[in-house]
Amino acid sequence: MSRTLVKDALAATAPRDSILLQGWVRTRRDAKAFSFVELNDGSSLKGMQVIVDATLPDYPAVGRAHTGASVEVQGKLVASQGAGQQWEVVAEKFTVIGEADATYPLQKKGHTMEFLRGIAHLRPRSNLFGAVFRVRSRLAYAVHQFFQERGFVYVHTPIITASDCEGAGEMFRVSTLDPATPPRNEQGGVDYTQDFFAKQAFLTVSGQLEGETFACALSNIYTFGPTFRAENSHTSRHASEFWMIEPEMAFCDLQGDMALAEEFVKHLIRDARTHCAADLEFFAKFVDQDLLTRLDFVLERPFQRCSYTEAIEILTQSGRAWEHPVAWGDNLQSEHERFLAEEHFKCPVTLFDYPRTLKPFYMRVNDDGRTVRAMDLLVPGIGEIIGGSQREERLEVLRENLAQHHLSEKDYWWYLDLRRYGTVPHAGFGLGFERMLMFVTGVPNIRDVIPFARTPGSADF
Ligand code: 4AD
Ligand code: MG
Repeated sequence: MSRTLVKDALAATAPRDSILLQGWVRTRRDAKAFSFVELNDGSSLKGMQVIVDATLPDYPAVGRAHTGASVEVQGKLVASQGAGQQWEVVAEKFTVIGEADATYPLQKKGHTMEFLRGIAHLRPRSNLFGAVFRVRSRLAYAVHQFFQERGFVYVHTPIITASDCEGAGEMFRVSTLDPATPPRNEQGGVDYTQDFFAKQAFLTVSGQLEGETFACALSNIYTFGPTFRAENSHTSRHASEFWMIEPEMAFCDLQGDMALAEEFVKHLIRDARTHCAADLEFFAKFVDQDLLTRLDFVLERPFQRCSYTEAIEILTQSGRAWEHPVAWGDNLQSEHERFLAEEHFKCPVTLFDYPRTLKPFYMRVNDDGRTVRAMDLLVPGIGEIIGGSQREERLEVLRENLAQHHLSEKDYWWYLDLRRYGTVPHAGFGLGFERMLMFVTGVPNIRDVIPFARTPGSADF
């Protein structure tokens, strides 16, 4: 007999004479004449109640079915007599596959998130993390669906790269040189020509530059993969390894870019509302009471748009005592971004046309010469969730930008070629997948929406 997932058994429309379930024991209650075992296999938040009669030949095995043990149950699916569930399984065969004793760390509810991070290998067996990772899986699928339905081509950009897309110098080095005795060049520095790739290599911070080359051939493309940042940010929104989705569109300007970003974010929210309803209700009950109202509010309204210059005016005229006072030309801090999304606009807002000096070399310079066609999408509760821009498609301006950023044309020869041969206006953005998951689940820490978090000082498991 083949296995039925608990999710499918719970959705049954009629009783079944014979069913096989496999999973882990969440709880067990023993009465005189029978035991109740709650079995969960991760396919849904809800488990299946299994009743094992004391007269069953297998009954002695139930005594070994402690919380955390894996079991297999064969029996009948019947309408439940008790409250709280429609169906239950009356066991005919009950087997313990793998025991778990009293040292099993997930004995009872009410563990702190900190404790659960320390058992990242077991936490997916809890209600909260089961729900988080089902939503993560579903939204990964929805990402592909969104772009594939719109004719975007999925491109696998490299993870090991020699170019620093964001120019922030926050890259992890990839090297096979012996750190104790590296070969030296004449200046006494490390001689990377003798390294594995015969040059310096790093883990990518973004697939954008390589993505642009494909957009300038296949028109509309997207990437979806891991990216790495060696930034020493100890916040609840920064991870050293995170997943990013980066669409890139040829023959597209900043307006089209902002429109796609809004449509995309709304698609992901709508998809989770439809396909992860039970999990989202769980988050609304235990993590963030306002979650569902907020998500629906965001779905119903157009996102606001506001230039960086207007945003600075709003901030300086707000009368707030900022921890970091802000003036034109300054980077917006988290407190500013959150004020704009949460208190001023009270909805997602896309800021655009940032000062040239704040942004990477590849952004298209506006006619004013001092701003670039950048955009950041800010959402309540989190702040920046998307960063994007129209790209500089004019060869001469791009060369000037490289020089201003002290980057060498030699390293970007292939990127410059896109502007030499059939250049087009093009634009794209990056959505941080974990930040999106935080927004959709209400889970306030990025460490809790990624299976195994990598943050400064921590790479366990
Ligand atoms: O704003 P960022 O740095 O933009 C880029 O990397 C562009 N190359 C994207 C593009 O235009 N194709 O990063 C994009 C998004 C951010 O808005 C944020 O959601 C997420 O990636 N992100 C992080 N998420 C988690 N941890 C970090 N350390 C992150 N850094 C950026
Ligand atoms: Mg950014």
